[in-house]
Amino acid sequence: MSSTHTHTAPLVELRRIHKAFGGVHAVEDVSLNLYPGEVVALLGHNGAGKSTLMKMLAGAYPIDSGEVLINGQKAAIRTPVDAQGHGIESIYQTLALADNLDSVANLFLGRELMTRWNTLDDMRMDAEARKVFQRLNKNFKNVRVPVRRLSGGQRQVVAISRAIYFNAKILIMDEPTAALGPEETAMVGQLIRQLKAEGVGIFLITHDMPDVFALSDRLAVMKNGKLVGTYRTSDVNEDEVLGMIIAGKLPPNKAQTHTL
Ligand SMILES: Nc1ncnc2c1ncn2[C@@H]1O[C@H](COP(=O)(O)OP(=O)(O)OP(=O)(O)O)[C@@H](O)[C@H]1O
Ligand SMILES: [Mg+2]
Repeated sequence: MSSTHTHTAPLVELRRIHKAFGGVHAVEDVSLNLYPGEVVALLGHNGAGKSTLMKMLAGAYPIDSGEVLINGQKAAIRTPVDAQGHGIESIYQTLALADNLDSVANLFLGRELMTRWNTLDDMRMDAEARKVFQRLNKNFKNVRVPVRRLSGGQRQVVAISRAIYFNAKILIMDEPTAALGPEETAMVGQLIRQLKAEGVGIFLITHDMPDVFALSDRLAVMKNGKLVGTYRTSDVNEDEVLGMIIAGKLPPNKAQTHTL
């Protein structure tokens, strides 16, 4: 991807982002970018600041200081609706769904389709939902039961469907396979490849090294709120990545892909 990157504006540029919770510097001076069709793995210990950084991009937390640029333009992202307006969708480790609602209602939650008489267009939502669920998982049929009765994989289909249906350009996946079995994990991997081929840029937070090496183009490591380094995944090995995560140690003689 390197040759194309020099000619394409980044989809996302995070510039010198800061966030503190009281005295805790959750994110300190982090700069990171993401190109179309690229998967950037975001790595680091528990509490490193990965989710906080991504929640700022998703509009869930306000940024203390720093800038976000989308397609080279400064973006004011203060709410999740602002983020959605920029094509940013997120899938969280906790699979945030409304447990008592069914899959169709969850897909359209807060963005319901309306008829021209301004009533809920249940028929269209049902039909559209079935189409997108089927695309992800042919066997997913029980779309009208409360999602609390679904398996982890089925719940993940619903969560990912939200991103696909609303045409995510920038997808934040925060430990998307943490609650899944091996088959469902493979499905998410397949889906990441598919979205990437469609030009979606993906920030993938994961603790799973095989996933990092199988799915990411670049990786960024955070430690104690700070960025340790950003490398092309094919330029580093697992030991070097673990050295960055555990000790904040940079691999010798390797070029970083991004500095500010
Ligand atoms: N809403 C909050 N209020 C107060 N402190 C918070 C809040 N969210 C995160 N923190 C703190 O910010 C720091 C970074 O947390 P964050 O959740 O971003 O880490 P993480 O890298 O996603 O970790 P994990 O791998 O465990 O998910 C931690 O010290 C955490 O306790
Ligand atoms: Mg987290």
